[in-house]
Amino acid sequence: MPIPTPAAPGPQPPVPPSGSAAEIAPTERFAARTAGMAASEIRALFAVASRPEVVSLAGGMPNLAALPLEALSAEVADLVRREGQVALQYGSAQGVPALREQICEVMRLEGINADPGDVVVTVGSQMALDLVTRIFCDPGDVVLAEGPSYVGALGSFAAYQARVVHVGMDEHGLVPELLRDAVRTLAAQGITPKFLYTIPTFHNPAGVTLTLERRAEVLEICARYGIGVIEDNPYGLLGFSGRIYPALRSFDPGVIYLGSFSKTFASGLRVGWALVPPAVRDRLVLAAESATLCPPSFNQMLVSRYLEGHDWRSQVKTFTEAYRDRRDAMLSALETYLPDDCRWNVPDGGFYVWLTVPEGVDTKAMLPRAVTARVAYASGTGFYADGLGSRQLRLSYCYPTPERITEGVRRLGGVLEAELDVMRTFGSPARISPSRSGAVRGPQSPSPDTA
Ligand SMILES: Cc1ncc(COP(=O)(O)O)c(C=O)c1O
Repeated sequence: MPIPTPAAPGPQPPVPPSGSAAEIAPTERFAARTAGMAASEIRALFAVASRPEVVSLAGGMPNLAALPLEALSAEVADLVRREGQVALQYGSAQGVPALREQICEVMRLEGINADPGDVVVTVGSQMALDLVTRIFCDPGDVVLAEGPSYVGALGSFAAYQARVVHVGMDEHGLVPELLRDAVRTLAAQGITPKFLYTIPTFHNPAGVTLTLERRAEVLEICARYGIGVIEDNPYGLLGFSGRIYPALRSFDPGVIYLGSFSKTFASGLRVGWALVPPAVRDRLVLAAESATLCPPSFNQMLVSRYLEGHDWRSQVKTFTEAYRDRRDAMLSALETYLPDDCRWNVPDGGFYVWLTVPEGVDTKAMLPRAVTARVAYASGTGFYADGLGSRQLRLSYCYPTPERITEGVRRLGGVLEAELDVMRTFGSPARISPSRSGAVRGPQSPSPDTA
């Protein structure tokens, strides 16, 4: 090959005309809809919160310590050996048929009678959320969601430029009267929300569960006003009393139901699903195909084998018992270490306690001081699309050991006391009660702002 000679003086490479592609910053070419995309406050925290000296009560990572890893590694090896040609190949956009049948059996535990043909397997239920928003929402469309609501759902709604109207909750979940009020107010403006997005069971982040009576009422209101319902239910099988609530979908086949193996098996496999009415299915499958061609065959087949060959229900029971111990450790530490005027819910399942701090404390502003004191939480503002939540925070008890949870809450109690001291000394926009006697304290409904 000839050795290149140094460039002789002569014609120079053309200079791009001003305003050409090379001169415009790539960010200037972003689509307008990306303006609403912001890193979730929780993700932004991940780097600091995952330092070993920090007790993180911030994330919702499932605790996988009890998974039978030896048995699973044998299953993985066998899957590759016997079915590798299929497991390592593209598959159907709708998902592996055998797994879709098994998913119907899982949903039967919540009273759902479904056809595997109406199940679409997705890369976690987060992808299902993204896809349903994509197929239903145009920019400016209104969606209803509990206030507070799951941060990942708010992210999807923002990404498609949907406007979120929050509906308040109390200790029994979404308040039907507030739903009716919100719908009527919107109707008076000529707006019909595209859907209600709800997490009726073991809510993230509020920790509450919608009562059976309210389930019927919520469905009735949505049906009357022609509003779709999206039920997101990743925690439904993680009840501490062993009780399994009937899903909204079990009462109404028009409900879109989102499920996941992230909390009952392994979040890293990213296998979730949507159960949709037949009229929605084809559009959803097309959207799924354009996003990923197909969900990972290997992971689906592994989940399918796990459901087939392992006592997965006792595994869920084992997980649930561990979460209950952790919940108990958190509740008892909250009683011991938190200042007066704090209120929190007593979750009956799932991963979260929603805490309301004394008036005047701003949980978002306090977070850096908490991290300095080596405890992390998720500030309430991340769970609202409208700026509320600065007096709330979410504590997760799913991942740390009970001892770490106790220590984390002890540190949080210290941080809160320090905030209150500063406020007592220098004053604050809010009035702080000088005495602690007679203060409202202890387990309560999520918060006045959420109701
Ligand atoms: C309410 C809710 N929906 C959906 C998800 C996403 O779960 P997945 O891992 O299946 O994507 C989560 C995860 O924390 C969640 O809490």
